[in-house]
Amino acid sequence: MARLDPHSYADLQQGTVTHIDWTLRVDFDAQVLHGVATLKLDRAANGALDLDTRDLTIESVTDGAGDALEFVLADAEGFLGARLTVRRVLPTGTVVIRYRTSPTASALQWLDPALTAGKQQPFLFSQCQPIHARSILPCQDTPRARISYTARVQVPEALAVVMSAAPGEKQPGDVPGTVCWTFDMPQVIPSYLVALAVGDLVSKDIGPRTRVYAEPATVDAAAWEFADAEKMLEAAESLFGPYLWDRFDFLVMPPAFPYGGMENPRLTFLTPTLLAGDRSLVNVLAHELAHSWTGNLVTNATMNDFWLNEGFTVWAERRILERLEGVESMALSAAIGAHGLQGELQRFGLDSPFTCLETDLAGIDPDEIYSLVPYEKGFLLVALLERTLGREAFDAFVRRYIARFSFTSITTAEFEAFVDAELPGLRDQVDLATWIHQPGLPASAPVFSSEVLDELGALARGITEGRRPDPETARAWSATHWQIYLQQLPRPLPAADLAWLDEQFALTASGNAEILCEWLVITATSGWQPATDRLRAFLGHVGRMKYLKPLYKALMGDVATQPLAREIFAASKDVYHPIARGGLQAIIEA
Ligand code: BES
Ligand code: ZN
Repeated sequence: MARLDPHSYADLQQGTVTHIDWTLRVDFDAQVLHGVATLKLDRAANGALDLDTRDLTIESVTDGAGDALEFVLADAEGFLGARLTVRRVLPTGTVVIRYRTSPTASALQWLDPALTAGKQQPFLFSQCQPIHARSILPCQDTPRARISYTARVQVPEALAVVMSAAPGEKQPGDVPGTVCWTFDMPQVIPSYLVALAVGDLVSKDIGPRTRVYAEPATVDAAAWEFADAEKMLEAAESLFGPYLWDRFDFLVMPPAFPYGGMENPRLTFLTPTLLAGDRSLVNVLAHELAHSWTGNLVTNATMNDFWLNEGFTVWAERRILERLEGVESMALSAAIGAHGLQGELQRFGLDSPFTCLETDLAGIDPDEIYSLVPYEKGFLLVALLERTLGREAFDAFVRRYIARFSFTSITTAEFEAFVDAELPGLRDQVDLATWIHQPGLPASAPVFSSEVLDELGALARGITEGRRPDPETARAWSATHWQIYLQQLPRPLPAADLAWLDEQFALTASGNAEILCEWLVITATSGWQPATDRLRAFLGHVGRMKYLKPLYKALMGDVATQPLAREIFAASKDVYHPIARGGLQAIIEA
């Protein structure tokens, strides 16, 4: 039968796996997980069951009673991995798969102690979105299917385990020197939200439902940076309805983590680059929190519908921050987003299908076309709906949308049908079809303006005519103001301007990764040497793709700095996550 998800071999007509009991033994020396996954189907099956795997070695497949079941592991098809067909599942609906992962499992990054804050213990983490769960767990790796899970994870006793699940009791391991951590995830989630991290971890409570986990060396800084988490949670509940995941804990990762944040339920993963020391980058925490409604309750059916997750979440993130920080924050963050979107539209071209909200990614690796389009074009559509309907009516609609589709996965077409049923006439009023199905950006896109924005833009563009920020005023700018100013600066810039800016505002020494990255893109594009050491150090330990890609592109943009890019990449590539490494390799070789 035709695949309903272009990125999965799952055929839900065969039955849906609704629960997984998972046993894992973590072998840091071999960089392998030894797993036993007990899959339970939603109904008594009596036919074949197709599962997704990637680079897994299947050791045995049995039924609940321990009797062997016949299976076929097909040849791998690139990033999709290999279909595992269990020939005939018994009416008990239980399949037990004993397997091991490969050291190159695409969901995992194994870090040597040197790449952690404490430098004593190794670290392991998973990143399953979009389609990497199959590299650590044979499963129906499509967000159309939802599972609850329990897990038992054996690790060396010096290490702690956390998962996107409620922690249970710690048990002695099977061999001396090991312990087993147990977990229970009662809420049903798509496979891409299964998550695991192992390392030297401690935690600090922030509020009744919020706790931060981190390495001992970073936990205090992290607790301070995210002290407003509980307030965010309350603001989000008042906007979107009750928080249904019991706890909102988060884990500050080692710097190699390739994303800003990942909304693993009950345990968001965060990059340590958010630890700016002034709480200026908490929007990422608000974003991952917002996914607790848009994404984790109402989930995109496939990666073609990814904008439903991210567009709504960017809008929700900005509404949360508007509550906490005031209306100006909406205009400023929307402006930063709009700037990013323009860059992506230029990169893809205005008629590229990758600039549509709903996409057709059959045959395409979702990691390869990851962009800001679903985020920022999606945000603009949601903001347009809000403006058209009025805030009160739109907020009520969003609450109905969340309540209606909670714990389910929906396609863009189902979203459109819901809009038509709930808000007749709105489709034509905003030309919804063009927004969703046509490339580029409709002229009806809302524009966010503010005096501050205009001033910062004029000041930045004016640098070519000798305009420079007044040092005293600019020293009082917020990190967001700086981000906007830097984004708008023309490039390349003459060395004299760069030297003056750095002398006045110590940008090369900035502890805010957004400011630093934008500044380093400018200095690299301008061939300005004094920032090179800082650039080298930054690229040498940070794995967040949002920063790596523009920096390497900036260096590769000029023949003079290409050797530097290659040299830094060669020296740093072991720090980078396999997914990041692939993307950067392409930039370096372009
Ligand atoms: N879910 C995404 C991260 C993701 C998307 C990982 C697709 C893999 C595939 C997460 O919520 C996210 O959007 N993170 C952003 C945060 C930002 C938009 C505030 C990031 O990492 O930069
Ligand atoms: Zn997101």
